[in-house]
Amino acid sequence: QRRNYHEKVLDHYSRPRNVGTLDKSDVSVGEGLVGAPACGDVMRLHIKVDPDTQVISDVRFKTFGCGSAIASSSYLTELVRGMTLEQAARIKNTEIAKELCLPPVKLHCSMLAEDAIKSAINNYYKKNPSVKTTNLAGTAAKLETAAAA
Ligand code: FES
Repeated sequence: QRRNYHEKVLDHYSRPRNVGTLDKSDVSVGEGLVGAPACGDVMRLHIKVDPDTQVISDVRFKTFGCGSAIASSSYLTELVRGMTLEQAARIKNTEIAKELCLPPVKLHCSMLAEDAIKSAINNYYKKNPSVKTTNLAGTAAKLETAAAA
């Protein structure tokens, strides 16, 4: 029996928000590049950060992956725009999966989105070492190492 995807997934999949890239040579742009070992899908996320407020002012993604991964990244871009880096670093994949009503077998697709935002935040902190980093950035560093391995 074929499982029907929730309309929210289909909506984000057929009309993905904020697809594209930002200029990563810009010091205020952080890049996250992560992969899902389970299926080989890849997500790239760019965030532009206001240096004074640490608020994410712009965000773009490109995902080479399944419909749930594309929907998860599209929803993530809507979620993080306007958040501070600290707030965005606390996003859990379960929030994304719940919003999109992802089935258990597609949970790792939302994990890709959580990894991508943490990786982008960590990259921003690396490019801006004067910014006070938090413990959450340490988590992102571990994730990035794991993704690269
Ligand atoms: Fe792997 Fe969706 S099946 S990211």
